[in-house]
Amino acid sequence: MKQLTVLLVGSGGREHALAWKIAQSPRLKKLYIAPGNPGTMRFGENVPIAATDIRDLVDFAQAKRVDFVVIGPDDPLSIGIVDAFHTAGILVFGPTKAAAELEWSKAYAKDFMLRHNIPTARYETFTQFERAVAYADEQSYPLVIKASGLALGKGVIIAKNKHEALETLREIMIEKVFGDAGSEVVIEEFLDGIEFSVHVFSDGKTWRLFPASQDHKRVHDDDQGLNTGGMGVVSPLPFIPMDMLARIDREIVTPALSGMADEGKPFVGILYPGVMLTAEGPKVFEFNVRFGDPETQTYMRMLETDILGILEACALGTLHEIDIHWRNDISACNVILASAGYPGSYEKGKQITGIMRAEEDPNVVVFQAGTKLENGELVTSGGRVLSVSAIASNPKDALDAAYEAIEKIHFWGKQYRKDIGKKALVAGLQ
Ligand code: AMP
Ligand code: GLY
Repeated sequence: MKQLTVLLVGSGGREHALAWKIAQSPRLKKLYIAPGNPGTMRFGENVPIAATDIRDLVDFAQAKRVDFVVIGPDDPLSIGIVDAFHTAGILVFGPTKAAAELEWSKAYAKDFMLRHNIPTARYETFTQFERAVAYADEQSYPLVIKASGLALGKGVIIAKNKHEALETLREIMIEKVFGDAGSEVVIEEFLDGIEFSVHVFSDGKTWRLFPASQDHKRVHDDDQGLNTGGMGVVSPLPFIPMDMLARIDREIVTPALSGMADEGKPFVGILYPGVMLTAEGPKVFEFNVRFGDPETQTYMRMLETDILGILEACALGTLHEIDIHWRNDISACNVILASAGYPGSYEKGKQITGIMRAEEDPNVVVFQAGTKLENGELVTSGGRVLSVSAIASNPKDALDAAYEAIEKIHFWGKQYRKDIGKKALVAGLQ
């Protein structure tokens, strides 16, 4: 089998986890990560090019004879990084800009779901403030208001009453707090239920579901406080049995991926629907078109099959030839350690210690996100700083191992949720 020189694009905990897994591949010749972080340096060579500098990334890949490119984050996908590598004749894993519209335009995603009968919240889209206000006035509450474009995970507001809805619409549409992302808004019904993440490998014609996982989006315990990029993940989920995954495949994944192919935009990459399990069944509240962060930090601990072989098969359209195995004898989790103040403003440059001690437990791997090296010392440089992952034979032991490891890691202002996996554990006991 051909040995591959690989370029991985991104710099978060997700990319550290992907680099960790890619480095275990017997197919790997050389790994570059652009721009990467201090954690990815152990597995390859970090290249100081930003994930959105598409032209420089293509030039670099050509100069270094890169065989295969893997895209982590959503923003380069939304500006056509995959199309640029196609044009350059370099094999790449990820959706084209046209296929990525499922994530970069919530209005497009909602219309797509309607066209393909995919269960989702009732909704309307608006570009005119007055019309949006008139519609909001007639709805029942709570009501969900979303900026249509990419807004760093902050563009979704759940309004408790008409007054909050009016204020939110004014902020998004008139004051433009999310910039152009708010030129169009989606107003939709509030879905009551249990939220979880579905991930799918797709080559455009064939797809394979991952085990279900659950992220914890709010910053504080008991789902209090502001929304974040995600504070911790557990998988698999005791309340999503195989027949529910089969239903999700039938009602959500199959219509979405065959719908994309029918509309001339075959979807290659990871499709990651955010799903709410409601009294009426599973409903999609968003589509993402890339690996979740921090879902990936849990999933890479569970995947048995060589990741490069899977990603390459997706890009080549040969996924039907591959068997994908997940460790079904373990539970996995990860807990995010964030800077004090996140998701609001926070200080940077705080010294981080204890990662090696935390990893003395062979079941623990610490992935880095908002970190950097300053005079040879590891310091904080972002909101989500580290992701402490653990595996064990059951969810409780995995979570205990992660929380024990967290006690050994120190930096000023370290904040984390103490209740990751609690809901899933409780659901598992019922
Ligand atoms: P998103 O930015 O689309 O990931 O949404 C952020 C969070 O808002 C999600 O993780 C859900 O918890 C919540 N959310 C989005 N849409 C709805 C909805 N229709 N009903 C209830 N909660 C929602
Ligand atoms: N886990 C949240 C996200 O990746 O969007």
